[in-house]
Amino acid sequence: MCTASPSTTPNAGLREQTRSLPRISETAPDFKAVTTHGELQFSEWQGNSWTILFSHPADFTPVCSTELTELAKRSKEFETKNCKLIGVSIDSIHSHLAWVDNLAKILDAPRLPYPLIADSDRKVAELYGMIHPNESATVTVRALFYIDPKHTIRAIIYYPLNVGRNVDEILRVLEALQTADTNGVACPVNWKKGDKVIVPPPKSYKEVEARAALQNVERLDFYLIKKSL
Ligand code: BEZ
Repeated sequence: MCTASPSTTPNAGLREQTRSLPRISETAPDFKAVTTHGELQFSEWQGNSWTILFSHPADFTPVCSTELTELAKRSKEFETKNCKLIGVSIDSIHSHLAWVDNLAKILDAPRLPYPLIADSDRKVAELYGMIHPNESATVTVRALFYIDPKHTIRAIIYYPLNVGRNVDEILRVLEALQTADTNGVACPVNWKKGDKVIVPPPKSYKEVEARAALQNVERLDFYLIKKSL
């Protein structure tokens, strides 16, 4: 657990900082950054789009290369869902530029259409709790933040250094969040677009009665009701 208890250990302040992470339903921390698409103020760049901010451990590493090119190949699928992508690692802008060039050559992928943040001073990594010191004290883990158009963090996914993320799953969660928002529903296990959704459970007897009157639903019990959209 991350606590704020005072400590006399050297570098405790830095450790607390690297362990703090924004949580779901908090406002996404803002920052200014140098990226492969130029300097940007994160909140301004995001505007009123959904945004996925993701970290990768380091440039010129094999698993990261496959993740970033797959996201590039499928970037239109995010764009059509009004979602911007932005990557970050603790590398210099020169390293990022050289790697992006190299990826386009060796993996037959488009040049990354989304920006990569050069976080040499670890500012973004620390702000978002992307460094997990027991996994690595020097590079970010594979963290991924879903940030909605109101700049609120809506979901967070973490993977370790040695397991690449699944782009289908990244898209599925985005679609689930957007579907839940648009329709005031929840999404059940393994939900994918087109599947039935869950009518949120009642919080009062009045709501139980209102749910009893619902038509064209799959009623498993008073608290578990599914419907098609
Ligand atoms: C990789 O992306 O391949 C990787 C990065 C850091 C540690 C292990 C693997």
